Amino acid sequence: MTINKPLSRPDEKPLPLREDEADTHYLGQFIPLHYHHNMLKDENRMSNFRAAIEHVVFEGAKVLELGGGTGVLSCLAANKASKVWCVEFNPDLVAESRRFLPLNPDGHKVEVIHADAFEYLPPEPVDVVICEMIHVAMLREKQIAVIEAFKQRYVQRFGGKLPVFIPDAIIMAVQPLQQSYDFFGFHAPIIQFQRPQDLQPGSIELAPPAVYSMLDMAKPTSLEIEWHGNFVLTQDGTVNALRFITKNILALLQEQASTIDWLIEYLVLPLAEPVEGKKGDVLQVSFRYMAGGSIRSLENSMRVTINKTPV
Ligand SMILES: C[S@@+](CC[C@H](N)C(=O)[O-])C[C@H]1O[C@@H](n2cnc3c(N)ncnc32)[C@H](O)[C@@H]1O
Repeated sequence: MTINKPLSRPDEKPLPLREDEADTHYLGQFIPLHYHHNMLKDENRMSNFRAAIEHVVFEGAKVLELGGGTGVLSCLAANKASKVWCVEFNPDLVAESRRFLPLNPDGHKVEVIHADAFEYLPPEPVDVVICEMIHVAMLREKQIAVIEAFKQRYVQRFGGKLPVFIPDAIIMAVQPLQQSYDFFGFHAPIIQFQRPQDLQPGSIELAPPAVYSMLDMAKPTSLEIEWHGNFVLTQDGTVNALRFITKNILALLQEQASTIDWLIEYLVLPLAEPVEGKKGDVLQVSFRYMAGGSIRSLENSMRVTINKTPV
């Protein structure tokens, strides 16, 4: 028997953006300074970027960083690079990175440039491009659009051979959950982020994750992300949320046939219309969004249907 549940949030229009959100969307992302402290002390992020940069950047390399923030990744690259151009458009961060870099031994090799990464090109070809404008599911931040625009401008100016990108590729997956939305007796089906390394007692995984997109930074990449796929439920439950998983392949270690990865926080989005399922039922899931788009745009596009196994 097929039970076609109504679509999640049918035809609902996204709410108009508040002015500060509109700015954020227009500019890419003005991440406030205090949030950079969280990024600097994030062991998972920093240790993997450091390992990838050590592996990819060779002695004397020329490096470009798009979206340099505090300058930390540029500074790591400057350990071996002879020159790093670090592009940042937020004036607060331009000032702060110019304050921090001279406090570090290799900081003098980093030139901070106050410019828009959508427009800037280095004065000469580079060996490596670092770009960390990464949000889960590639939403909100403009990584994909920035890299696409960069590749076109770069090839026009310098010819065919592209630099190596950090990250090299991005793998995205989705997983159906039965998610607890009880907060001290208050029911609130609300967006949430989960640290992959933490136990998630409120989340019951109703099927293993399915990969819905693999983006190779060296190849032309579309901003449109669309997926229709099926899950076979591995246990009974109420599918009331989708978990979005994003793994960044920061560097390929060809000799060891392995990779340096950065698995970022999961994004869990509630379904407007939960569906009941039993073990063995087929759950059909679809969604569609633009890389760099809002979380709400993905949430509004999520559709789930359940195909019951015959009794
Ligand atoms: C997630 S932070 C990463 C900062 C730094 N690379 C690090 O790893 O700590 C992204 C940075 O990109 C900057 N950014 C976003 N869009 C940009 C653009 N179009 N041009 C230049 N910088 C941009 C933001 O201001 C922010 O500092």
